[in-house]
Amino acid sequence: MGNSIAAYAAKAGMKALIFVPQSTPGAKINPMAIHGATVMRVAAPDYSLMKHRLLGLAPELGLRMVSGNGPIRVEGYKLTAFEMHEQLNGAVPDFIAVPTSACGHIRGLFKGYRELQAAGIIDRLPRMIIVQAENNSPIVTAIKAGKRQVVPFHDAHTVAEALTTGNPRGGQELILKAREFGWLAEDVSEEEILESQRRLAQSGYFVEPASATSIYAVKKLRERGKIAADNSVILMLTGSGLKDPDVIQRHQLKVLESDLDAVESRLETLLSPR
Ligand SMILES: Cc1ncc(COP(=O)(O)O)c(C=O)c1O
Repeated sequence: MGNSIAAYAAKAGMKALIFVPQSTPGAKINPMAIHGATVMRVAAPDYSLMKHRLLGLAPELGLRMVSGNGPIRVEGYKLTAFEMHEQLNGAVPDFIAVPTSACGHIRGLFKGYRELQAAGIIDRLPRMIIVQAENNSPIVTAIKAGKRQVVPFHDAHTVAEALTTGNPRGGQELILKAREFGWLAEDVSEEEILESQRRLAQSGYFVEPASATSIYAVKKLRERGKIAADNSVILMLTGSGLKDPDVIQRHQLKVLESDLDAVESRLETLLSPR
């Protein structure tokens, strides 16, 4: 989001000031900075606290805040629903799994589907699956425990660094919607996230850890019988793996070395049947 704000601000000749949590990888920050945005990395025990503080300061400093759960972002995400409707030739998936932090994405996506239904274009709604990292799962924890309020997490750390809103303002709405529309909710451990990232990459999709969470969540829900084998499930892949290069170290990937003289014999060894 910071990247697109920076890009559109540059195009519109507007000044952009982007606040990011300290855990944000440089690969995410650099594109914002090259567009000319001023980027401020804010040390705070929790991303929600940072947002809360900045929202409080905005009126007196004359800042127009655009946040992850703001109405403009939510409206924008309706487009994903419309595009999926087109790409699936009007078919409505049974489930859509969405990695969730500030809640803007899942809210926008569902809103898009509701508008399609209200317009008489579709006759049923997909059920959303709220996916969070176990280390920071304020909404999933609440839903699993049957609570009606978000369970705030503080100073939480996860390899899925894009999912770090500890006390999301949009969480309450999601808890209510989950009850009303039969949504599912699942969290995934750090090991499961890395395993998901590896599996998706080995299927041709290199995504960042936050994005990878959904596949393992769906696997667990299928194993528990919450999703049937013949249900159609869409996984929202929210971010490219290139946006978090440091996490690749965790996979201990092997790269072979050679020089020109050795390359032929190395290849012969590699290609010889064992
Ligand atoms: C890669 C990625 N996935 C998922 C999310 C969560 O989206 P939301 O904050 O709208 O819930 C984000 C949010 O920044 C993200 O960057």
